[in-house]
Amino acid sequence: MEEMIETLPQHTCSWLKDKMTMYKYQDFWAIKRHLQGGIQAQQSFKAEPSDVFICSAPKTGTTWLKSLVFAIVTREKFDESTTPLLTKLAHECVPILEISQVKEHENNRKNSGFPLVATHFPYASLPKSVISSNCKIVYIYRNIKDVIVSNYHFRREAFKLPMEDAPFEEAFEEFYQGLSNFGPYWDHVLGYWKASLERPDSILLLKYEDLKRDPTSNLKRLADFIGYPFSVDEEKAGVVDNIIRFCSFENMSNLEVNKTGKPNGGTLENRLYYRKAKDGDWMNYFTDDMKEKIDKLTDEKFSGTGLVL
Ligand code: A3P
Repeated sequence: MEEMIETLPQHTCSWLKDKMTMYKYQDFWAIKRHLQGGIQAQQSFKAEPSDVFICSAPKTGTTWLKSLVFAIVTREKFDESTTPLLTKLAHECVPILEISQVKEHENNRKNSGFPLVATHFPYASLPKSVISSNCKIVYIYRNIKDVIVSNYHFRREAFKLPMEDAPFEEAFEEFYQGLSNFGPYWDHVLGYWKASLERPDSILLLKYEDLKRDPTSNLKRLADFIGYPFSVDEEKAGVVDNIIRFCSFENMSNLEVNKTGKPNGGTLENRLYYRKAKDGDWMNYFTDDMKEKIDKLTDEKFSGTGLVL
C-alpha cells in the first residue's frame, strides 16, 4: 500500500518547514499514516447497525464530541468518579478508525461493549459498510476561520515550531487552497451535509458554535438521535447538566491526563487537543484581506445550502 500512496499527488507543507507531507486520495488530502489505516478500513472494516460513528474534519470539536458521546453511551456503567475520560484522552476512549488497526478496533468494540467509532474520512470515502449498515453518524463542523487558527497552532506545536518560524499567512493560504488534512474543508462539510439531507435518520449534523450556545438541547437531541435518550427522571436528577459540565472545556482541559499525558505513550501531547476553545479567536490572526478572501470563497462554495461557517 505504501508504494501506491507514493504514486499519489503530494504536497509538502512549507510553513511547517517541510515536516509534513499530504497525499491526495479520492479527492481529499491526508498524511500517509492516516491513509494507510483508512484504506485498510475501507477494505475490511465491518460496521454494525448499532455502531455510532463520530465524524469530523480535524479541529472542529472532535475531542469534545467524542467525550460527550462517550459520556452519554456509558452513563449507566460509569459515573464521574469512574469514567475512563478521567484517565484517558477522549481519542483513546473512542479510537479513530484510520489509526487503530481494523481488528483492534473491532475487538475493542466487542470487549468494551461500546459501539463507538470515529473517523476524519470524508463521507464519500467511508467504508461501504458504514452506509449499508445504516448505523448512526454524527458530524461536527465549525467556523472555518477558527478551524484554520486551531489547525495552525495544533500542527505548529506538534512539530515544535515557534510562531516566528511558522508563518500564519502561509498556513492560511494552504488551507484556502484546499490543502488541509482531510480537506478541502468545504468539501468535507458539504459531503456530510448532502448525505444528511438524503439520510436524515442516519446522519446528524452539529455545529460547534451551536453546541456551545445551547448545550442542553443539543445534547438531548444527540442522545435521542443515537438511541440513548435521557429519561425524564435522568433529566430531573441532573444527568444532562452533569455530562455538559464534566465534558466542558474548563473541566476537561484541567484534568491531569489532558494537561500532561501522551496517548499510548506517543509523542503528541494530550494538551494540544485543548487550546482555547474560544469562538472568534481568528480575529487575533486574520488580516482584513484574509477574512474577505475566505468569506467570499466560503459563500460561493455554500451558496444555496443555508450552511453558514
Ligand atoms: P481551539 O484550537 O480553537 O482552542 P479537535 O478536537 O477536532 O481537534 O478540535 C480541537 C478544538 O476543540 C480546539 O479549539 C480545542 O480547544 C477545542 N476543544 C477541545 N475540547 C473542547 C471542549 N470540551 N469544549 C469546547 N471546545 C473544545
